[in-house]
Amino acid sequence: MNIDALIDAIPKAELHLHIEGTLEPEMMLALAARNGVELPYKDVAEVRLAYEFDCLQDFLDLYYNGMSVLIEERDFYDLTYAYLEKVHEQGVTHTEIFFDPQGHTCRGVSFETVLGGISTALETAEKEMGITSKLIMCFLRHLPEDEAFDSLHCACKHKSLVHGVGLDSSEKGYPPGLFSRVFAEARKQGFIPVAHAGEEGPAEYVEQALDDLQVQRVDHGNRAFENPALIKRMVNERTPMTMCPLSNLRLKGVASLELHPLKKALQAGLVVTVNSDDPSYFGGYVAENYKAIQQALNLQAGDIITLAKNSFSAAFIDDKHKQAAHDAIDKVVSEVKSKLKSK
Ligand code: ADE
Ligand code: ZN
Repeated sequence: MNIDALIDAIPKAELHLHIEGTLEPEMMLALAARNGVELPYKDVAEVRLAYEFDCLQDFLDLYYNGMSVLIEERDFYDLTYAYLEKVHEQGVTHTEIFFDPQGHTCRGVSFETVLGGISTALETAEKEMGITSKLIMCFLRHLPEDEAFDSLHCACKHKSLVHGVGLDSSEKGYPPGLFSRVFAEARKQGFIPVAHAGEEGPAEYVEQALDDLQVQRVDHGNRAFENPALIKRMVNERTPMTMCPLSNLRLKGVASLELHPLKKALQAGLVVTVNSDDPSYFGGYVAENYKAIQQALNLQAGDIITLAKNSFSAAFIDDKHKQAAHDAIDKVVSEVKSKLKSK
């Protein structure tokens, strides 16, 4: 079976995607001009040249700077709609999107402006392209927990639009336990908890995310492999890991994709998924992530099918939706197989 054709055609859910990380250089410059924002780049080539990172913090510095062009509700709409159009072409039928309200409210852009633009684009895309979605609001872990509470209070006014809460930004030195109180309140208010853990931080941060924040998924989770008992626990509890191969490569979490732990995760029986994280910054959307990791780890068609099915099993959708997605995957797989046989 032509594996790239399978990757393109197979229905996929994306579960680890920062909407601000989909800001392509062309749109960054266009929005800067539209909103009269000064950027330290004169053209697209200069923006791309700046995308060389040695670690997560190098990337985050540029990421927060890039966000400064997002000001009006229509900017957030345009950003979100462009992402959805792109992944629609790649076979994504469901997406769970992170957004970072504190990256905007600190610049005087209101929570409602951000949420309004993103959620209107999601609604339009569902009508036009049939893509379903959930929104996950992240707390920035380099800021104090009190400020996370401010975001939570805003989200409580929009429970029909915000499904979950997450934890992102600089990991080292900011363990999940610092956010136990705000996560407890978020869970009480009905938000589903997830957190970035083990991207750069130690396995102990993954444990804290599970124990102190009671997360239902771990975002990244790479360093959990330093603790075999923790992996066993995540297998037994069926806690999904949302992995992002090209992100890990570009932020030097792995020295090469051949050393990426995704195959180990599959072999251990973890509910592991493939995602793009911040595709504009890391050189690939979800299909490019599947293709790159397939090649590097010599994944087989069966692995790709498992990863695609995992993406729906790990999604925050009901069992009927999960089953329908798994059935759609089986149908596409048999169509791809018979097309190749008839060639
Ligand atoms: N914010 C956007 N992308 C991120 C990542 N990969 N890790 C932590 N915070 C982020
Ligand atoms: Zn992320």
